Amino acid sequence: MRQPDDFPALYRDHLAHLTAGYAAALEATRWDAVVIHSGSPAKRSQFDDQYWPLHPVPHFQHWLPLAEPDCALVIVAGQRPVLHRVATTSFWEGPAPFDAPHVWSQFNVRVARQIADVRDALPKGRVAFIGEDRTRAAVWGLPESAINPPDLLLKLDALRVQKSPYETACLAEANRRAAPGHVALGHAFRNGDASELDLHLAYLRATSQDDPETPYKNIVALGAHAATLHHVTYGRTATGAGSLLVDAGATCFGYASDITRTWTRGAGDAADLFRQLVAGVESLQLQLCDTVRVGLPYEELHELAHVHVTQLLVDLGLLRCSVAEALAHKVSRSFLPHGLGHALGLQCHDVGCALVPPRAENPWLRNTSVIAAQQVFTIEPGIYFIAALLEPLRQGPRATLLDWSLVDALVPFGGVRIEDDLLVLDHGVRNLTRDVLTT
Ligand code: GLY
Ligand code: MN
Repeated sequence: MRQPDDFPALYRDHLAHLTAGYAAALEATRWDAVVIHSGSPAKRSQFDDQYWPLHPVPHFQHWLPLAEPDCALVIVAGQRPVLHRVATTSFWEGPAPFDAPHVWSQFNVRVARQIADVRDALPKGRVAFIGEDRTRAAVWGLPESAINPPDLLLKLDALRVQKSPYETACLAEANRRAAPGHVALGHAFRNGDASELDLHLAYLRATSQDDPETPYKNIVALGAHAATLHHVTYGRTATGAGSLLVDAGATCFGYASDITRTWTRGAGDAADLFRQLVAGVESLQLQLCDTVRVGLPYEELHELAHVHVTQLLVDLGLLRCSVAEALAHKVSRSFLPHGLGHALGLQCHDVGCALVPPRAENPWLRNTSVIAAQQVFTIEPGIYFIAALLEPLRQGPRATLLDWSLVDALVPFGGVRIEDDLLVLDHGVRNLTRDVLTT
């Protein structure tokens, strides 16, 4: 795949930043070195002999985008990082394609004949182990107490919250790779009648990705299926539905994009109302993007999203009360149950921005940080018609606040979500998604 020309230079600076960050983290937590295990492929079932493709440990990927099992990356403060690889003699599977040749010059690379051989090459002293496969720590002679020490993990995770220019270039490229998929599906939906499975496959084709390469399972939901927030069990038949919600991204060197668009088609009062709902969510999503600024707690933005959503529901007549009354009774929570967004990076739901729990009324909010420059997160408001949430409202004392004939008319459309990926700047934001996707 195409790559921006400046990746090698950005990557060198990124590693210099990581080297300094790791040195400080090791000193603060009193470790002499850390060994990061790339990972072991997970079995599809413990009764099976088939494996899922390897998704390397994010701490490993933070250093290099190599999806190879049983690598040991050794970091000692002040020294060049050492990458131990294990020679493979397997004739069942070949290595994953690797398109980042610029990484090699930044590491001392050693090739061991067997996994156990790495043990003798590890540094002496207090050596921590970061990884999912604890058996590897044992093989390399590291004690249980050295595995994923919480204070060290916290500091290493914190290094991923504010993105280096290399990381933002990867995230921007991941957005660029996803954009043709959204354009293709919008076009396919408006000009034909495909099944969810056909649309999912068309997205993979348009973005030149295989299913395991996507940062999360594509969410492709026609009509009422959009009320399932993570709808990934694709229908096999065309349904003629009036709505399509696509929540799908792409990756670049392990970094994810996470983009949602909702498309409409058809005629009639209900279709017109749903179109207005989608336009309204799009408009409030853009307002929320404009409100992002350094120093604002993300949870305040989430609360503001509920004010905007409530206003829209009042404007369209679904709520028959004032905005203030609806907010007082938290009615919008039944239409927008998820958080406004989450940090984004090597993980679709990146860690480090949810170190404190959200307030009780925001149980699914995954970003409770104070917004800071170089954070990357999503802004993804939505409005859904979810039976499990609406029925208690319909049966409860606040039922009269709603126009149920309008709500019921919109149930077949499932819901709407609009999601962009934002990079926070010292002043304002860069919208990584709308830079490359104008729909
Ligand atoms: N893209 C799915 C999610 O953010 O949960
Ligand atoms: Mn998301």
